[in-house]
Parts: sequence; C-alpha cells; structure tokens
Amino acid sequence: MSQATFKRFDESRVEDWKIIDAHFQAYQNDASRRVLEHLLRLKGDNHGYPVDRFEHSLQTATRALRDGADEETVVCALLHDIGDDLAPANHAEIAAGILEPFIDPLNTWMIRHHELFQGYHYRHFYGLDPEARERYRDHPAYARTVRFCDDWDQRSFDPDYDTLPLEHFVPMVERIMSRVPFGDAPTVQDKESA
Ligand SMILES: [Fe+2]
Repeated sequence: MSQATFKRFDESRVEDWKIIDAHFQAYQNDASRRVLEHLLRLKGDNHGYPVDRFEHSLQTATRALRDGADEETVVCALLHDIGDDLAPANHAEIAAGILEPFIDPLNTWMIRHHELFQGYHYRHFYGLDPEARERYRDHPAYARTVRFCDDWDQRSFDPDYDTLPLEHFVPMVERIMSRVPFGDAPTVQDKESA
C-alpha cells in the first residue's frame, strides 16, 4: 500500500483518504491480535494479590464461561482489567474504550463501572462506603454488573482454580472484535458530500 502525499489535512485529496482508509481497515482487522498481545503484559504483575493480573483475567473469563455467560460477556470478563498497567487509577476506562465499538452499550457500562461495583467487597477496608454502587440500583446494567463482580471478578484470585488457557478465548475475542465498529463503517466516497 502506498502513502498519502499531503502535508496538511486541508490540502488532502480523496485519493489520499482512499489510501489511508485501506491502511485503517487492515489495522482495524488486526486489532484483536494487538489487544491479546497487550493482555500478556499483565503476566507477572501481582501487585500483592495471590495471582497475577493475567491469571485473574483468565480466571474471571473462565468462571463467566462456566456460568453460561454469552460470548460477549466472556470477552468482557477476559479484558476488563487490561488497562491495569497503563492506567492503574482508572483502568476500567481502557477496557471500556477498547470494547465499546463492538459490544452492547450496557456491557460497556458494566466494564466502566466494575471498579465501583467490585468495591462492595473491599471499600470498607479503606473507610469508604461499600454500598456506593446502590446509587445505580435502577440502572438497566445494574444486575449484570453485580453478577459480573460478585460471581466472577471478585472470586478470581484463587491460585488453585482450574483456569482455562488464553488459547481457549482467542477465537472469542477475534469474533467480537471483527464486528463492524459501532455497527457502521463509513468508507471514503468518490465525491465529497455537501
Ligand atoms: Fe478484575
């Protein structure tokens, strides 16, 4: 693939954007591989927990799968902490951002709020209100977020659990991330729209 020749956007031509769009499609199609590669970076990061973040991620996904969760939810479970190394104080936003174009908005909400909901199990140790999640009781994603945290996330620090390997989940991530982002894929037009 060739490259665009402009030096600034306001001098670009439709031919440039066709080239860029072709690159983008290829790059987007390879995104699941890069995401899974990044997940491997969580290996060895224990942060004082009984298992590292990679094992925790696999274990959370394994529990979701064994509880009969749908594939999209299992992928959410696998990737929910992927932002731990890049944004430790705000890590849920990273996973929410990665998956948002491909999943139900309620699942994006679930990932985005899992830290607060998970806090039900430990916030009191910090002098914080463990019931803080109750302010969202009427939200349509409340029940799924409670289930995600209570049944899968907060339980997944067991070094003796029979956790499935990453290979088991790779096709699931590929299927979810090969969906059309946001359900719509604008392509470069031959003529500029007015
Ligand atoms: Fe987690």
